Amino acid sequence: MEEKKQLRSQEWFGRGGKMGFIYRSWLRNQGYPNDYFDGRPVIGICNTWSELTPCNGHFRDFAEQVKKGVLEAGGFPVEFPVMSLGEILIRPTAMIYRNLASMDTEETIRANPIDGVVLLTGCDKTTPSTVMGAASVDLPTIVVPGGPMLNGRFRDETIGSGTFVWRIKENVHHKVYSDLDLQEAEICSSRSAGHCMTMGTASTMACMVESLGLTLPGAAAIPAVDSRKRTLAQLSGRRIVEMVKEDLRMSKILTREAFENSIVVNAGIGGSTNFILHLLAIAGRMGVPLELEDFDRIGSRIPLLLNLMPSGKYLMEDFFYSGGLPVIINELKEYLHLDRITANGKSIGENTAKAVCHDRKVIYSVDQPLKPEAGIAILRGNLCEQGAVIKPSAATEDLLVHRGRAVVFTSVEDYHERIDDPDLEIDANSVMVLQGGGPKGYPGMPEVGNLELPRKLIEEGVTDMVRISDGRMSGTAFGTVVLHVAPESAVGGTLALVQNGDYIELDVANRKLHLDVSDEELAQRRAAWTPPEKPTERGYVSLYINHVQQADRGADLDFLVGGSGDYVPKDNH
Ligand code: FES
Ligand code: MG
Repeated sequence: MEEKKQLRSQEWFGRGGKMGFIYRSWLRNQGYPNDYFDGRPVIGICNTWSELTPCNGHFRDFAEQVKKGVLEAGGFPVEFPVMSLGEILIRPTAMIYRNLASMDTEETIRANPIDGVVLLTGCDKTTPSTVMGAASVDLPTIVVPGGPMLNGRFRDETIGSGTFVWRIKENVHHKVYSDLDLQEAEICSSRSAGHCMTMGTASTMACMVESLGLTLPGAAAIPAVDSRKRTLAQLSGRRIVEMVKEDLRMSKILTREAFENSIVVNAGIGGSTNFILHLLAIAGRMGVPLELEDFDRIGSRIPLLLNLMPSGKYLMEDFFYSGGLPVIINELKEYLHLDRITANGKSIGENTAKAVCHDRKVIYSVDQPLKPEAGIAILRGNLCEQGAVIKPSAATEDLLVHRGRAVVFTSVEDYHERIDDPDLEIDANSVMVLQGGGPKGYPGMPEVGNLELPRKLIEEGVTDMVRISDGRMSGTAFGTVVLHVAPESAVGGTLALVQNGDYIELDVANRKLHLDVSDEELAQRRAAWTPPEKPTERGYVSLYINHVQQADRGADLDFLVGGSGDYVPKDNH
């Protein structure tokens, strides 16, 4: 008979003598019967609940559903909190804390008697942070995405989270909405528990984990308040116990092919540009080689199938009724590695082969896509030696090849101060350049890349201009916006050397971003350049600035790349 491998939790609970007493006795104040410690799988339920993260506000109840499933399958559920990152309230940007939350997740899992992990994720950064942390431990892990809010509905209008916000300024200016109207719209845009229901970063992340194989099939699109989400949580609780018995670790699911699948699916759904940073960081933790160019090479030829805001018309609730991500995966099957194993132990191909589309206005077919090519283009040139990113499907066709004079803003503050100055020398052909928006510079690489156009040009009817920065863009935004320029300006990338009036050439078809200034002139400017002062010498922010990698490496901290596995640390007494 094959000998059953003892689980790591038994290094705590299976002990005799003094240490066994210590490890069990205090836990028993919660009333656990003796047999909970008999060697059954201990399942850590990693909860990103917080009232400061409204998108995950329903997770206390949600965790109870998972526990039910774990108990039904004979496991021992233990729920624990980790740092919760709410996109809306955290300043200067939740992104700066993604890596910190990943450390919290990683260390909490490893330090405790946990054999398998359930990650409850929702708001943008709560998914990549916990997945990165869990990946560095590499236990069997399943993700339960918390689900999007119901469709926003304001009077006779369907409104999408985020995407509606970008229209407010204009509509207030033209007196379309009064303050009272906006107050009413506030709650109409957030009608239920759940995360942003556009194809912003949160929905993108939910689809990312499903396409990677880290969830049960169909998990991503189920609205937070739909009963089927509760069922999903319970079934995921049951399944993780089996995954522990099968030793189905993250590394068995997160192979190079799984990452390639995720890139294909992200293109098909028109996912957020933030996907690039997070997927690169997760791959880094897993030790899977992944480069910026992979996103272009694998993703840019993929047709856009999903008609969701901001690229399209509908919202996540409609996506769910239309069949959800399994339909997209099935449509894209010719581009995918269908034999990749997923959390339920079956291949992604098996899981999705019978998926049926219920509404072709929402999910298009590969034969008749919404757009023939979606995906993300990676640019190179002297202005971005380590790459830059543009989402052509969110851009204006006419601007994808463009030459214009730079109007430079040295910081976000400088931009806000001058953008609506009637004397600002700028026209529709100008290229707006923002410095200081990168990981080290801001710090934290916030979503400031989709700079609003100057008022005077909007009034002339200008709707889009080329904008370039080392920052990010909200997944709910759009425009001809070049993002993630690396190296960033704060480390002396060429972006820091751009001056007003310099010509910049953007040529997306040829993947080129060029600053038309001679090498000699650039060398002179570089020699005269001085780095910006560090905003602080203490605390996490200082650690972050000292160790964060550039955008082309996913902006992870250099010492967090890779993993340390699930070794059992020394006894504590
Ligand atoms: Fe949390 Fe958009 S603010 S998902
Ligand atoms: Mg966001």
